[in-house]
This record gives sequence, structure tokens and C-alpha cells, in this order.
Amino acid sequence: MSFMGFFPFRAADLAIDLGTANTVVYLKGHGIVLGEPSVVTLETINGIRRVRAVGDDAKLMLGKTPDNVETIRPLRHGVIADLEIAEEMLKHFIAKAKANAGVRLRGSPEIVLCVPSGSTVVERRAIRDAATNAGARKVWLIDEPMAAAIGADLPVTRPIGSMVVDIGGGSTEVGVLSVGGLAVTLSLRVGGDQMDDAIAAHVRRTHNLVIGEATAERIKFDIGAATISGEPRVAKIRGRDVVRGVPTEKQIEQEEIVEALGETVGQIVDGVRNALEMTAPEIAADIIEGGIVMTGGGSLLAGLDTVLSEATGLPVIRADDPLYCVARGAGRALEEMEYRGVLHAV
Ligand SMILES: Nc1ncnc2c1ncn2[C@@H]1O[C@H](COP(=O)(O)OP(=O)(O)OP(=O)(O)O)[C@@H](O)[C@H]1O
Ligand SMILES: [Mg+2]
Repeated sequence: MSFMGFFPFRAADLAIDLGTANTVVYLKGHGIVLGEPSVVTLETINGIRRVRAVGDDAKLMLGKTPDNVETIRPLRHGVIADLEIAEEMLKHFIAKAKANAGVRLRGSPEIVLCVPSGSTVVERRAIRDAATNAGARKVWLIDEPMAAAIGADLPVTRPIGSMVVDIGGGSTEVGVLSVGGLAVTLSLRVGGDQMDDAIAAHVRRTHNLVIGEATAERIKFDIGAATISGEPRVAKIRGRDVVRGVPTEKQIEQEEIVEALGETVGQIVDGVRNALEMTAPEIAADIIEGGIVMTGGGSLLAGLDTVLSEATGLPVIRADDPLYCVARGAGRALEEMEYRGVLHAV
């Protein structure tokens, strides 16, 4: 008999990072049990709209769906843009997370949700309502930079200052932490999505080729960089020729991509510099020692650590598993008494 058998009604307490690009779920006592794109595909048949696919399955359909099928990303810049669809997606992911964990957990759970530090009261209520409707008994919120810092093992509850830069799909958040609180926060509405858009715009302008967002993201994974180190690389791109209207394959140089991403990278660098200017000197002294810690999928862009380090004169470290840092930190806040103070009731 499993240990769980003694507690047949124990609820599945969860921490969820509902991100613009990806949703990550942490199950109390288990760790990360799900990480999938925040994408929903809807199908309309005889005037009735229903969910066709969610997450990984839905992302595969991006840009490839017929007229009666639409692919939706219910979050924009880290906050809910389409409440109804976000709720459907949340329900689906909660059920799947429990199935993935392979345990039978019943009852209504406590759920910790991660929110951008700059989100408004209205936005916080929207996410609370989505979680309540998805079956939560109690909803807690945690600021994303705080969750990211806990997930990256920074000493957030001690009198040691640290800086985290979480670069997501739709937003970048800079947080300066000390003694269990956020001393400085700065939110930018830029991230990986804007990098993909910049690549697509460049390819269209200079190669006369129309590509979709999935292709632009693939180019970013392949040869995307904030600066070139080593031999410059090339990638093959397939799209529709603007002039001739036919599918075409062309070659693209890494230097072109570095240039296309320059504006977004520059905005991130400026944001970090501004946050440093707002930081109290004693805390800044600690950051010189500990460096700037990057989390989020956008931090995986090659050379971003180098560029940020050169621009600030500080050491820059990429956290382990950057895509899971926020959810892992929120999960720890749920499990460990030391961090309980960073959770907010709504
Ligand atoms: N190897 C990589 N190189 C560059 N970018 C990457 C890499 N891997 C993932 N990304 C980008 O990271 C972004 C997703 O990161 P993440 O999952 O942290 O965002 P999110 O939490 O969903 O968004 P947000 O925090 O803005 O709500 C996407 O734009 C994705 O293209
Ligand atoms: Mg995020």
C-alpha cells in the first residue's frame, strides 16, 4: 500500500507559473510535473466553439489550422488577456499535472499562482478567479521575481542583496531582493516573443520571405544570439516568397539575426541598468559579489550573459533549468515555512 493510501482525501496543492509562452506546474511533495506551451486550439462546428487541443498538441498546430480552427494564446505580457480560455487551459493543465504525477489526489487544493510584480489589482483578481473556477480552495499569489529568485537558490530571506532578471516570452522582470522582500522591481513588456517578431520582420524585409512565428522561433533556437562567439553560423529558412508567392528556401547568416535581436537585447540591458541605478548602495555591494542571475526561457539566448556582463561590469550567471525557476520557487514557497511570508492572499 502506498503512503498516499493513508490520506485518501489529501488535496493536490499546486504552484503554477501561468506564463505568456509556457505553463509550468509544481505539485507539492513531487516537484515539477508539467511544462507545456500556453496555447489553446479552438474549433467551431455548426456555430459551437469547443476546445480542440491544449499545450504541446495545440502548439504543433500553430499557423497550420484551417478557417474553422483558431489557435489562441490566452496570456499577453504575463497577464490574462482571455479569461474564459485561460480558465479552460488551467483546468486542463491541473488535470494533466495530476495524471502525470501518477497519484490519485482528491479534494480542493491550495494553489499558488505567479504574477508579474507590476500587475494590477484587476489582473490579480482575474487570475484568482480563474484558479477558483478551476477548483482551488485557497489561492495565493507570489511575485514572479521573488519566485524566480527562490527557484534559483538566491538567499532571499537573508540580509544579503541579490538581483534576478527573468526573461520570459512576453515580459522581462528585474527584481532586487533582500530580507524576504523586493527592494526594486522593474517590468518590461519585452521578451522572447518580440525576438521572434524581429526575426520575422527582418526575413521579410531583406529576404522577401514570409515566415510564421513557429519558424521565427526555430531560427532563434538554431542561430539566435545576442553577440557572436566563435565561428558565425547559418540556418536554412523556409517560407513564402513575397513577390512570387511560392514556397521558397533561403539561407540566413547569424550576423543578421544578432542585428535583428539588437533592439530587444538593448531594451533588456537598459532595464537592468535602470534597476541598478535604483538600488541602495549596500544592496548593490552584495550584487557586485553575487552577480546578476538570469532566469526564464529568454535567458537561454546565446551570448546574452556576455552582453549583459559587459554592459554592467558585473558577473552574470544563468540559473539551472531557467524555464522552471519561477514554478520551482513558487513550489518551495508553498512547501517551506521559511518562505511563507512571500505569499500574498487575494
Ligand atoms: N534556447 C533558447 N534560446 C532563446 N530563447 C529561448 C530558448 N528556449 C526558450 N526560449 C524562449 O523563451 C521564451 C519562453 O520563456 P518562459 O517559458 O520563461 O516564458 P513565460 O514564463 O511563458 O513568459 P512570461 O514570463 O513573459 O509570461 C520563449 O520566447 C522561447 O522562445
Ligand atoms: Mg515567466
